[in-house]
Amino acid sequence: MTADLKEIIARELDGSRRRSLTYTDLDDADLVRQHSPLMSPLVWDLAHVANYEELWLLRAVAGVEPTLPDIDDLYDAFKHPRRSRPTLPLLGPAEARSYAARVRGRVLDVLDRVDVAESPDMHGNPGPPLLDDGFVYGMVVQHEHQHDETMLATHQLRVGPPVIDEGAQLPPSRTPARAEVLVPGGECTLGTSTDPWAYDNERPAHRALLPSFWLDVLPVSNAAHIAFIEAGGYADERLWSPPGWVWRCKEALVAPQFWRRDGGTWVRTRFGRDEPVPLDEPVQHVCWYEAEAHARWAGKRLPTEAEWEKACSWDPTARRARRYPWGDDDPTPERANVSHRASRPAPVGAYPAGASACGAEQMVGDVWEWTSSDFAGYPGFRSFPYREYSEVFFGTEYKVLRGGSWATHPRAIRATFRNWDYPIRRQIFAGFRLARDAAPDEGGAGANRPGEGWAREGGG
Ligand code: AVJ
Ligand code: FE
Repeated sequence: MTADLKEIIARELDGSRRRSLTYTDLDDADLVRQHSPLMSPLVWDLAHVANYEELWLLRAVAGVEPTLPDIDDLYDAFKHPRRSRPTLPLLGPAEARSYAARVRGRVLDVLDRVDVAESPDMHGNPGPPLLDDGFVYGMVVQHEHQHDETMLATHQLRVGPPVIDEGAQLPPSRTPARAEVLVPGGECTLGTSTDPWAYDNERPAHRALLPSFWLDVLPVSNAAHIAFIEAGGYADERLWSPPGWVWRCKEALVAPQFWRRDGGTWVRTRFGRDEPVPLDEPVQHVCWYEAEAHARWAGKRLPTEAEWEKACSWDPTARRARRYPWGDDDPTPERANVSHRASRPAPVGAYPAGASACGAEQMVGDVWEWTSSDFAGYPGFRSFPYREYSEVFFGTEYKVLRGGSWATHPRAIRATFRNWDYPIRRQIFAGFRLARDAAPDEGGAGANRPGEGWAREGGG
């Protein structure tokens, strides 16, 4: 068993590194430049993921001596905000690549001799001890994949000849039989206590009792967002929250980031190429404030984080939560658009085979979905293995995003995975989906008895 797990770990480490090397396969000048004050120079991300790997997989796991002296401070995200990183004496592109390769070589040596087998938790800690089921390796793999998605967001902000390929063809759009599903009230399980590579913020599993609600089958499309724009949504203060309106005025927001008006049509820039905005794609590059205003205009609201997860994973027949909307198996090209197969979201309705038990589609992949919820710890939360991954971000400053985007790797997305960002952020690959309250006579807790399945719109 242990040998298999070590093989999996080595393969996963290699997979995330290949991505990082692809996204840093650029001229040196492009790697050291800061393409936006919101982002690090790409060369910082590369050395940072290597340094994180060194801290956890060499020093914490095996007490190995530092590979290079005095670099930890440069790559500590808490010591230097992104905007100041280009002024630091960073490793250059060649140095960063060779540092990452040296660390990786030593990590594979250590992996050969550590014990990553399952063992009982002796400390009563709900989080997994560092090496159990290879937790710390999973943490490092997910960290690198998250930075890889961040590097793609940097590429999207970069000006110059395109370097990101189009990638694979995606399935066509489709109009589902119904626009909304009723998620009946009742108990469900949220979070996880058993997924060995889950983060502390996904733990522990807990029961939640939610009232019935309606959820859109599909994320909001560019066509729907253009309707919001044309109805004057960006100019109507009544649709915006007070802080959202202040931000909208300060930034003069009139459309999603990267959009501009060209004659009678909306055009967007995507990885350095201009193209008409495709009407049937989920809208992306909108901030939480824009999502909230659109929802109010539509007479709806954003789902709470708990509603989002229930609609994504709860199987009312089996009375258990699935890892993904369709079940426990990994995403396939028929189920979801993840892993940067293509450099864009798939059209709405493209994945009927990826539907969740309640009938919601595209819950995983395409665009991260803003929820109405602040980022907070679950009941019984225990920080593990360090406070700076999750706990220091708990509070009212950050909003939770769910479901991953077209750029998210399957190792860094699952129904329980939680992402967060400031409500003003737009450079991430985020859109949203709409929800609304159900009437008192629509789908009570009684509609959610074992074996009964979900109530459907118009289903009697
Ligand atoms: C979970 C995506 C918000 O990018 O700030 C990367 C992930 N944590 N390095 C981030 C993370 C440490 C984090 N997000
Ligand atoms: Fe990081």
